Amino acid sequence: MKVEELLKSNDKKDIGIVVPDDWQSVSYDCDQFALPTHYKKYLERVILPRGLVLDRTEKLVLDLFHSLDRSVPVVALCVLKGGFQYFADVCDNLKRHAAAHYPEAIQFNMDFIRLKSYEDDRANEEVQVIGGDNLEHLSGKQVIVVEDIVDTGNTIRKLMNVLAKYDPKSVKVVTMLSKRTPLNTSGYVADFSAFSIPVFFAVGYALDYNEYFRDLNHVCVLNNEGIEKFSAKNL
Ligand code: HPA
Ligand code: MG
Repeated sequence: MKVEELLKSNDKKDIGIVVPDDWQSVSYDCDQFALPTHYKKYLERVILPRGLVLDRTEKLVLDLFHSLDRSVPVVALCVLKGGFQYFADVCDNLKRHAAAHYPEAIQFNMDFIRLKSYEDDRANEEVQVIGGDNLEHLSGKQVIVVEDIVDTGNTIRKLMNVLAKYDPKSVKVVTMLSKRTPLNTSGYVADFSAFSIPVFFAVGYALDYNEYFRDLNHVCVLNNEGIEKFSAKNL
């Protein structure tokens, strides 16, 4: 498949639950959650509690499952590092739906690729592929890419360029978050998004700010003290 085909491979997109532009109105006070004490004073609000992410993902994966071609082998591909937590949730649900639909169950393999593009809260020009196995085995498979966030769309474009070389039968992109940012100039939209968020820098649920905050159970927004304390120049 060509890159452009991959980027548009499915016309029906699920943009997910929409977090409004005034996200403050639907966010939660940090004091209402058992946040790690080492992060608490650096966080502004909790935006998506883990329970909500899990409940939304149960339905997202059900829809994903029903969209799969049962005659083509499936590979779930985790985009590291930020995707690891969401990948585990997606795979858990896939396994559960697959078991419930026995004997039409879908057997799937898992693989991992590592990309890097961010410093502080800014995207670098260059998206680097810095790890992962040989992906020759993706040829002819249905690939489900699992991302933590689609922001500018640069990472996913780069990834599609990489995947196209291996000639998969199809590629579906699942992401926990899609950011409604004007910086997404190509207008790329993932096939399945759990949530559509406005422009803020999200941390937690494996999303990092200079490698911190991955160990936070909920999707949160940093406060100014957090942005300063964990900025690249201060680490
Ligand atoms: N948070 C963390 N990592 C990211 C984001 C974000 O909002 N956008 C792209 N990578
Ligand atoms: Mg990151």
